[in-house]
This record gives sequence, C-alpha cells and structure tokens, in this order.
Amino acid sequence: MEICIVGAGYVGLTTAAALAVFGHEVECVDMDQAKINGLIQGKVPIYEPGLEDLITEYYSKNRLHFSSNVKESIKDHPIILIAVGTPSQNDGSCNLNFINQVIEIIASTINKYKIIITKSTVPPGTNELIHQTFIEMGIKDNLFDIVSNPEFLREGRALWDIFHPNKLVFGTKIDRPLEVLKKIYQKESAPFVFTSLTGAEMIKYASNVFLATKISFANEMARICDVFQVDYTDLQKGLGMDPRIGTDFLNAGLGFGGSCLPKDLSSLKHSALSHKLETKLLDAVMEINDTQIELYLKKLSTVLLNLTDKQITVWGVTFKPGTDDLRSSPALVLIQQLIQKGCRVHAYDPMVQLKLIDVISHLNQYESLNNSDALIIATEWEQFLNCNWSEVKSRMKGSIVLDARNCLDGETVRRQGLVYMGVGIR
Ligand code: UGA
Repeated sequence: MEICIVGAGYVGLTTAAALAVFGHEVECVDMDQAKINGLIQGKVPIYEPGLEDLITEYYSKNRLHFSSNVKESIKDHPIILIAVGTPSQNDGSCNLNFINQVIEIIASTINKYKIIITKSTVPPGTNELIHQTFIEMGIKDNLFDIVSNPEFLREGRALWDIFHPNKLVFGTKIDRPLEVLKKIYQKESAPFVFTSLTGAEMIKYASNVFLATKISFANEMARICDVFQVDYTDLQKGLGMDPRIGTDFLNAGLGFGGSCLPKDLSSLKHSALSHKLETKLLDAVMEINDTQIELYLKKLSTVLLNLTDKQITVWGVTFKPGTDDLRSSPALVLIQQLIQKGCRVHAYDPMVQLKLIDVISHLNQYESLNNSDALIIATEWEQFLNCNWSEVKSRMKGSIVLDARNCLDGETVRRQGLVYMGVGIR
C-alpha cells in the first residue's frame, strides 16, 4: 500500500520504518528541509535505538522515501497518516496549528478517495471537527474517511513497542476504511479495538493520564513511607505482586516528564473544563508531580542546611534513560532550582551535554564529581546503577548521594562511607 506519513518526529519516523518493514511503500514528509536532507543522508534527528539502521536499510531498499514537498506527497497518496506535533499552549490546551495546516493541504488538494489517519495525540472531539470541517468546505463524504489511530510508543523503546503492541485502536465514523486499516497492520498480532473517533482519542488520553496517576500515587506513597521510615521499595514490591495493580509505573522519584504525560494531562483537563467539568483527580496528579522537586530539595537541605554556594553534581539530565530528549525533563527543572538557590551545578549525562549558562557540563561521569558537596541521581541511566562508588567517594568533597529515582542499592553506596538518601528510602 502507498502511504504518506506527515511529520518526521519520533512517532512519524518509527511508524514510517515499521510500515516499510510490513511491506508498504512509505513516503515520510516534513516541511523541515534540513531534517529531510539529513534523513536522505541516513541521519536520524532523534536518538531511538535501532531506528537509524532500519531507516537506512529500508531507504536503500527503496521502500522508504523522504520529501519536503508536503503538498505534492499528500496529493499523490491515497492514505495519509498524520504524525505532526501537538504541543502544549501556555494555558495547558493543545496547540493544533500543525494539524490544521495538514488538514488545509488535504482539503485543498483532494481529488480522489483518501483515508486520513490521525496518529498525533489530539483532544477529544478534534477528529469529529476535522470531518465536519471537510463537509463544510464542500468535500463530499464519499471522498474521504477520517480515522483516529493513536500511538502508544514509548521513547527509547519505540521499535519494540511498534512491533509488539498490546492493542491497535481505530476510531472511525463508519466501517468503510476498516478493511484497509486491517491490511495496513496485518503483520501485527495485537487485538484491534474499534470505536468512535472521539472514543479513540479518549483511549489515548486516558492511557497517559492513568500512567501519570500511577506515578503520582507512587510518589505520594513514598512521601508517606518517608515519614513512617518505611522503605518504599518494599511497598512497591508488595503492591506490584497483586496482578490487579501490577509492577509498572510505580517507581517513585522526581516525577514524570517528557513530551507526552504532562502535556496530555493538561490538555485533558483543559478539554474537560471547556465543558465545565472539574478534574479533581487530574489536578491532584499534577500537583503532586509539580511538588516532587521541591520535596527532594528540602531533603537535601536537611543535610546541607544552606544550599547557597554548595557544589552539586547532577547525574542524568534527560527526562528518562534511553533517550536524548530534554523536553519537560524534571532533571532540568531541578538544575534550574538548584541554580536559583545559589548552587554551583555540575552535570553529566551519557547522551546529552547541557549547554546552559551556569551549568558546567562534563564528558566524564567521575570528573563531574570533583569537589562536589552532593551528588543527585536525577535520571536512572544504567551506568549509574553499577558505578564505582569508591571512586565517587574519593572525588567528592562531601558525601551526600541523593537518589532521586530510587534506583540505587543503598547498602552498596553506604559501604563506601557515603550518605545515601532519598524519599521513602531507609
Ligand atoms: C509515554 C507513554 O508511556 C507511551 O505509552 C505514549 O505512547 C507516549 O507517552 C506518548 O504519548 O507518545 P514516554 O513519554 O516516552 O511515553 O515516557 P514514559 O516511559 O511513559 O515515561 C514518562 C515519564 O514518567 C518519565 O519522566 C519517567 O521517568 C517517569 N516515570 C515512569 C516515573 O517517574 N515512574 C515510573 O514508574 C515510570
């Protein structure tokens, strides 16, 4: 099948690669000429394990194409898959400018039947509105079908997720596009969920909001464990053994970040509010998340007393391990708050060299510790878990290790004469 994917971001590129592997002829388009030029030369603009190899392979097999001629490609293809960004606006609502641009191009060029698949995360009601807009523009409803087909990929594991989905969600107005959708994804073994356009949008939002809720729940439990001097990881173990609860997304720490969970939480709240519906649970989830960093800074102050002029090393700056993405990274907010409190901040991350005034970025994990009063683990990269704690101790001036991701073995750290601490950690 011939498919045009609009948007060469992480969803667009991963989907493009996967659909090429499934045997389709895929053209991925983006207005960003530099990005497209890079892709043609085999340079993938994001770090996603395995993606560059797959793209190079299928580009050379002539099954995957790249173009910046968005209009031409949209006009020529019978199946358009929209994977453009839908970032947050200042008021927390979703910015649909990129989606609207694509819709305008489709509307102005459509001359034969097309299936338009929205993969971008959009607020409930958006795809209905797109359908309505087409009709109001005089485009006959036998000329197009809109499908809401949200994506559930995680950054850093996107290829695994796309080849092993737990479900495929399709929201449609009528059954007409279903046979084509089944053919597009026939190589996937996951069950299909068929629903309305808005139903599919809601499944996407509810999934991310539920994950965010689990994390804020974990963080609140860790706070309670902290005052009762209970080890939160024991609680986590016990909780996770109940299959109704499950082990995933119960790690306590600095809170959730990234380009999806915080944005989708705000956007869903905004959508509900536009219907005069309060979202007390979502508000609480957000509030807990927004106060996690403060909590860790308070912890640090209990041992360092005054943070002014202290030298603090932060390990990990990305919003989670396995990615180079800094969007809404809790580690970055932590660094900014440390600077505001007068700390001298040194940082090390395996993937990213921070270019921030007031932060000294290091290429070597251990050198970042020289003369530091405290080390904070802000992102749980594998290499921090098994590091040489004796070297850590010898490089630092102080001895505080604040594990803000509950990821270290406290005993191993303490054995080197370091002070291991966190929230809900004994
Ligand atoms: C998330 C969802 O997990 C994907 O299913 C979804 O497709 C994607 O958003 C999206 O909407 O595009 P992602 O943003 O890549 O994926 O990251 P997650 O792995 O969900 O992690 C989000 C944040 O939660 C990270 O900052 C992570 O450190 C934090 N987290 C995660 C915790 O604090 N505790 C946990 O137990 C798990």
